[in-house]
Amino acid sequence: MQQNILIIGACGQIGTELTFALRQKYSADQVIASDIREGNEELMQTGPFEILDATDYDALEEVIAYYEIAEVYLMAAMLSATAEKFPERAWNLNMNTLFNVLNLAKEKKINKLFWPSSIAVFGPNTPKQDTPQNTIMEPSTVYGISKQSGERWCEYYHNKYGVDVRSLRYPGLISWKTMPGGGTTDYAVEIYHQALAEGSYTCFLKSDTKLPMMFMDDAIRAILELMEAEPENIKIRSSYNLAAMSFTPAQMTKSIQEQLPDFTITYEPDSRQEIADSWPNSVEDSAARNDWNWQHEFDLKNTTRIMLENLKSNQ
Ligand code: SER
Repeated sequence: MQQNILIIGACGQIGTELTFALRQKYSADQVIASDIREGNEELMQTGPFEILDATDYDALEEVIAYYEIAEVYLMAAMLSATAEKFPERAWNLNMNTLFNVLNLAKEKKINKLFWPSSIAVFGPNTPKQDTPQNTIMEPSTVYGISKQSGERWCEYYHNKYGVDVRSLRYPGLISWKTMPGGGTTDYAVEIYHQALAEGSYTCFLKSDTKLPMMFMDDAIRAILELMEAEPENIKIRSSYNLAAMSFTPAQMTKSIQEQLPDFTITYEPDSRQEIADSWPNSVEDSAARNDWNWQHEFDLKNTTRIMLENLKSNQ
């Protein structure tokens, strides 16, 4: 039987590149992209697309039946900074979409599910350096609370109902194909755009705010490898810590200046500073490395090179 795939939130920063990667890996007509709005031209032209509000269980169930979907990637969410402005909407979106797909899996209407968690599950009382897989988790943001609750529900559905749900705690993600929206780590993408367009950037975090980060190619490969792993190797059914690099805006500035020596940065921290201050500086991810052989490839130096090269040729 054909194993069709549905991506929810396919037009977002991760969803866009995940859709391309899955369409390349399988045949394009097996990978159905969906979102509440249309995405970029390439996404719309390379395979099936559905306008879908994943908070609507019946609409979701209909798309899953129509396309004979076996596997769902739930990428729709309201990110940390926006969620602080609209707490109730964020909670409803982040939780209802997750419950909908978990319940479809419980009812055996789909058989596998990916859902991303985040470093936002940690909070001000969590150890900041090499934050362990299992530690104090007292998230202080609406987004973090929704991800932490989501992790608990994923584990619960796995243990009680045998749902094959898999998840990663993503750090900030850096990519050039699609902009992030409404996150605290967005500066690490905006900075490259502004470096090329203006030669300068005003950063909304302080110069020494160190956060875990990852280049998008690593993030996508992590999803594919996690989803391919044998179920018995997935020992964590809440969500895996996942790491690649950690740096501050000042360190990022230096790496850009190696290629664009005239680039300048100024700092005007806003409300996102408090969110960043509650998150880890770095994350310890040996469980992912041991259980399903996770290995990152990209560091800050080659991330900067690839970002500037691609954004320059797109200008
Ligand atoms: N990148 C996200 C954010 O900043 C964290 O998962 O909200």
